[in-house]
Amino acid sequence: MSKHNVTLVFEDGRSVRIQADEADSIYMACLRNKIRILTDCLEGACATCKALCVEGEYTLDDYSDSALSDEEAARREVLTCQMHARSDCIVEFGYESRLAMKTEPETVAATVAAVERVSSTVVRLDVEAANGSMIDDFMPGQYVHLSVPGTHERRSYSFANAPGAAGPARFYIKVLEQGVMSEYVSSRARPGDAIEMTGPFGRFYLRRPQRPILMVAGGTGLAPMLSMLDRMAETGMTDQKVWLLCGANRPDELFCLDEVAAYANKGIDITTELAVVEPADGWDGAIGHVTGLLRYELIKDTPDIYLCGPPPMIEAAESWLGTQNFDDALVHAEKFLPAEHEGSPSAPFLCACDGGPALCEPVSDNSSFPDAGSRTQRSRTRWPSRGTCRTGYRYPLKSCRRYFVSPCFYLHFRPGSRRLSDRPSISARGRTR
Ligand SMILES: Cc1cc2nc3c(=O)[nH]c(=O)nc-3n(C[C@H](O)[C@H](O)[C@H](O)COP(=O)(O)OP(=O)(O)OC[C@H]3O[C@@H](n4cnc5c(N)ncnc54)[C@H](O)[C@@H]3O)c2cc1C
Ligand code: FES
Repeated sequence: MSKHNVTLVFEDGRSVRIQADEADSIYMACLRNKIRILTDCLEGACATCKALCVEGEYTLDDYSDSALSDEEAARREVLTCQMHARSDCIVEFGYESRLAMKTEPETVAATVAAVERVSSTVVRLDVEAANGSMIDDFMPGQYVHLSVPGTHERRSYSFANAPGAAGPARFYIKVLEQGVMSEYVSSRARPGDAIEMTGPFGRFYLRRPQRPILMVAGGTGLAPMLSMLDRMAETGMTDQKVWLLCGANRPDELFCLDEVAAYANKGIDITTELAVVEPADGWDGAIGHVTGLLRYELIKDTPDIYLCGPPPMIEAAESWLGTQNFDDALVHAEKFLPAEHEGSPSAPFLCACDGGPALCEPVSDNSSFPDAGSRTQRSRTRWPSRGTCRTGYRYPLKSCRRYFVSPCFYLHFRPGSRRLSDRPSISARGRTR
């Protein structure tokens, strides 16, 4: 029997790759890898083990229609206790990894291999880790936590080269005034420095290109796009047209333009457009924010859309896409949030669904969420069974009407869904499908 690589992606962004024998259900393959995904009946009757197979071929053993309807099956939802991988697969679960895995994400000891300033504000950091670590296992677009040498701090950075690439992992880091990592990369970093990497994380990853691709990158938001483009070039996934929109404040902040241009020689049909807010003499690109380049022509063929960069850029892009009624299942986004906002457990308790206008009746009764300091609360609020709160730590338990809900800060709203009225800090963050 063949074995396939199955990547499990959890709601908190943690991903892990396991090998699954075709004879094993995904549940059994997980168990063999000491991962206990949520299950109950193990007979395809209760839907506890439901997940979404984002990519790959699979078959399902017998199951009850009440556990998985035809519509859900058509959307590639799966009962993982009945699912057998027939090729490499990516399976997304709507709950946090800690429910299934007792182990912490992998941390590997690594060393800095190279440091180079590549634009007025961007430093390239190459990091060497042992083969067989998560360096080989991440998906293009994902990120890791890097320790900041000489401190107890960690920061998130997106891989800028493809998994399994020869040589070290590559990161592009924007130098901010008074930033902890910024200070390290701009003044102290030297080849040979010890540095730790933890991960991989992220639901922002390359989907198999089956339609045109539109990438919108703000500043170092270009990094994960490079990883995706590298992967596409290496594996010959070059059938689809790619539009890459890159933005920066000033022309001298742009980086990797030669690398981007080289993708055309690697078989990718890529068109790149640049925008800067403060042009210099001789600038012949667009002037303004990168989102100003968005127009109907780029979305008329319903591309997969990848957005990465500072939160305001992503919010502007999502907002424009909303006005175009663009299918948000095709929009994937990664916000480069400052460290103090990333998954902050002490963030205000706001939670809502993303089920769209018809289903979106979030927190009509705030008494369900009375205590901003409490990490987890139980609610019988009638949440839609398929709503996904991207970083909201909400997950279904057995019945689609029962959820544990914890305080969350960044919420994902479909265009048109209602926001909780006057909460100042709600902000959309990323999309899942
Ligand atoms: C999933 C993810 C992936 C990321 N990938 C990358 C990447 O590939 N490349 C990259 O350069 N960054 C990336 N970031 C951002 C990165 O994690 C750090 O937040 C950033 O590099 C600042 O770290 P620092 O230690 O230099 O600054 P800090 O010490 O964290 O912050 C110093 C000051 O700068 C402010 N600040 C922090 N970030 C910003 C910002 N973006 N704009 C304006 N002010 C800010 C802080 O509020 C603080 O006042 C990513 C973030 C996330 C969440
Ligand atoms: S565990 Fe009940 S359907 Fe899979």
